[in-house]
Amino acid sequence: MSDERYSLIDPTSARRLELPVLEPTLGPNVLSLAGLYSHSGVFTYDPGFGATASCTSNITYVDGEKGILLYRGYPIEQLAEHSTFIEVAYLLLHGELPTAEQLQAFDHSIRTHTMLNESLLRFFNGFHHNAHPMAMVSGVVASMSAFYHDTTDIQMEHDRDVFAHRIIAKIPTIAAAAYKHSKGQPFVYPLNRLDYCSNMLHMFFSVPSDSYEVDPVAAQALDLLFILHADHEQNCSTSTVRLAGSSGTNPYAAIAAGISALWGPAHGGANEAVINMLEEIGSAKHIGKYIARAKDRNDPFRLMGFGHRVYKNYDPRATIIRKMCHRLLEQLKASDTPLFELALRLEEVALRDDYFIEKNLYPNVDFYSGIIYRALGIPKSMFTVMFAIARCVGWVTHWREMVADPGTRIGRPRQLYVGPPSRNYRAIGEREEAA
Ligand code: CMC
Repeated sequence: MSDERYSLIDPTSARRLELPVLEPTLGPNVLSLAGLYSHSGVFTYDPGFGATASCTSNITYVDGEKGILLYRGYPIEQLAEHSTFIEVAYLLLHGELPTAEQLQAFDHSIRTHTMLNESLLRFFNGFHHNAHPMAMVSGVVASMSAFYHDTTDIQMEHDRDVFAHRIIAKIPTIAAAAYKHSKGQPFVYPLNRLDYCSNMLHMFFSVPSDSYEVDPVAAQALDLLFILHADHEQNCSTSTVRLAGSSGTNPYAAIAAGISALWGPAHGGANEAVINMLEEIGSAKHIGKYIARAKDRNDPFRLMGFGHRVYKNYDPRATIIRKMCHRLLEQLKASDTPLFELALRLEEVALRDDYFIEKNLYPNVDFYSGIIYRALGIPKSMFTVMFAIARCVGWVTHWREMVADPGTRIGRPRQLYVGPPSRNYRAIGEREEAA
């Protein structure tokens, strides 16, 4: 806590209220309003939480003005260059980079928790073949609570660890099962000798009737995307996991709530929406028309993959993915180069446009990620599922931080009520039709 104090004068009583200022390790100071209501009887109003810190956290830091992203203090660029997704998962969960032995033990534990209970697997048969995979994945993850309810005591650190390893290990298996169900293909069991991303590609693309070799370039690309997506502090889905988890609910149910929040096009669903948009634009000659639509207040169309609540500069993850697109499309000899070129052109036009300059709208992580997923052969409807697999690590880490914090209270926001004042019930014969 800083020595600094903010003073508020209550206009009715003229009482002065001193508000303490909390000092973070990085970022702006935070004014503590915890005692505001009891002292002054007023609430605060901050729709969308643009200026509200909902918790203390020591996991991830984002500086939106400078375009900085740190996991446990390590810059995302360094992790993207030198680390692996499993090592990053360990770092996020435990706060420090692992030693060789710690990494080996963690990797082993994740590899040996990949199978699903066969009953859980049969759930997929209940879904229509064209159900959106996000609907299937959130439904099946929520159902995991029915399988591990008795053995998950969230007050026990050991049980929290087991939950973390289980969900991180099983979510690719669930995702692959959703994919296979939508294709009408037999489910492929995990192969635990494979690393996390190779195993995922194996479960997605191998079929019992043929041999399948995982392309190491594809596995490496996926691993890098997963590092970039692993956490992003108090975003919509992570805040959802925290809010749901704050009631003490089963952690699988809390993660399922996060998956549902991620699905929306303003959040993780943007990667799918970007490809839909690029396909709709079709050619560089139509870019002007779509930029004009994005600027038109009367048109709901937005440039998908552009803009961010926190980044008012280039999203550092987008910079890394953009570079990766160049390399990967060449290495995979992918046929998607025209779509990537269209995206590059669209970015160039938008970044020169006054509307996007004035509003600080830059490409975000989702602008280029779909192009890579497509090059890897992953269908559009699975893009957000890929995001969910990676972000699951962040959700679990935040959930653990919250549950272990003795200061955690149930999340319960207040409101600015603008409905009718108190009124008396009227019998049906005495009511007039509302205008
Ligand atoms: N295209 C056109 N105009 C935009 C866009 C866009 N993509 N994004 C924001 N604006 C405008 C918006 O209309 C508003 O204008 P005005 O001030 O005149 O009303 C202004 O910029 C501020 O936008 P906002 O909606 O108030 O900003 P926000 O912080 O509430 O929303 C956002 C952030 C990411 C939801 C928004 O930028 C957006 O909808 N982007 C497109 C969807 C997208 O790419 N989402 C992925 C986000 S990154 C990954 C993730 O979170 O999972």
